[in-house]
Amino acid sequence: MSNDLPTFAAPHGPETVQVDLGPVAGFADKTPRVVQSSRGPILVYRESPAVIHVYLAICPHMGNHLREQDCANGTLVCNLHNWEFDLRSGRSLNPGFTAGLLRLEYEVREGRLIVEVPPEAPDPMGR
Ligand code: FES
Repeated sequence: MSNDLPTFAAPHGPETVQVDLGPVAGFADKTPRVVQSSRGPILVYRESPAVIHVYLAICPHMGNHLREQDCANGTLVCNLHNWEFDLRSGRSLNPGFTAGLLRLEYEVREGRLIVEVPPEAPDPMGR
């Protein structure tokens, strides 16, 4: 998918941009989808028509880009080291690991999913 999605200045900080991911109707229920943006991959999990979860699709363990094909039954398993995440909360399902997916703010504006994306992903290794 293209990474030249339209972006806008966001009201929540000068470095954050709003990315238009397209019509919200294009995201089917319980079918996770990863959209590439200029700020990195974004994972959208529409639990129901009224409940949508949006995350930066970058693993908090070592920064692997997460893929929609690694999602099943509301869970994502990173294909690099098999960390598991709950798609409804973004929390790690691995005992002892508290780092979860970075949840992104969004709004539905005129039927389109507009996501606020920070300037760059926090480096999970603190580099
Ligand atoms: S980078 Fe995802 S589990 Fe290691």
